[in-house]
Amino acid sequence: MTGKFITLEGMDGAGKSTHIPTIIAALQARGIEVVSTREPGGTALGERLRELLLHENMHVETETLLMFAARREHIASIIAPALARGAYVLSDRFTDATYAYQSGAKGVAAVKVELLEQWVHADLQPDLTLLFDVPVEVSIQRLATARSPDKFEREDAGFFMRIRQAYLQRAQQNPARFRIIDANRSLEDVKKSVEDEISIL
Ligand SMILES: Nc1ncnc2c1ncn2[C@@H]1O[C@H](COP(=O)(O)OP(=O)(O)O)[C@@H](O)[C@H]1O
Ligand SMILES: [Mg+2]
Repeated sequence: MTGKFITLEGMDGAGKSTHIPTIIAALQARGIEVVSTREPGGTALGERLRELLLHENMHVETETLLMFAARREHIASIIAPALARGAYVLSDRFTDATYAYQSGAKGVAAVKVELLEQWVHADLQPDLTLLFDVPVEVSIQRLATARSPDKFEREDAGFFMRIRQAYLQRAQQNPARFRIIDANRSLEDVKKSVEDEISIL
């Protein structure tokens, strides 16, 4: 028995976390067990690494390595066992975020991320990745009213533009699993699109 692995991606403020309850409800209504988790984090150790990653300044390659260290733990103790028992795993961010943030926006060579990806999860990829896409101004505006910013959320518009471009490029390179959700619409309209994508999984 194998479950399915769903990941949510997109810039800070795009609306990923907002739609998690919708996805959980849609799957549970079909009698499916859902494990909802997030990166960085997802485990006790991962959450401690998350604190460091979101609030401490460090070399960008240190950041990349810690992301994959947290991910290794996350896969071993949460994701793989859940998929093996037939549950659906919903993760708020996964490896595409490392390509977008540490590589696309902060300049780590993509080939280094690929090496770590091969090491840590050569035989695991999401079955579905919902990319919440919004113009940079919209995400900045939403963040400004939503919460006090972490290290990444304090970056400038150029940084966010590189994130968006890198994500769109990831979607283009992996069309079978990516669905781009136009998140620059009302909450109701975005919710409908999310439900449509989940319903065919
Ligand atoms: N479609 C939308 N229209 C208006 N505001 C939204 C929309 N989606 C999300 N928001 C708001 O934007 C903020 C950031 O949303 P959130 O889900 O936390 O984004 P993310 O998890 O992608 O960083 C929240 O205050 C949320 O209520
Ligand atoms: Mg979020």
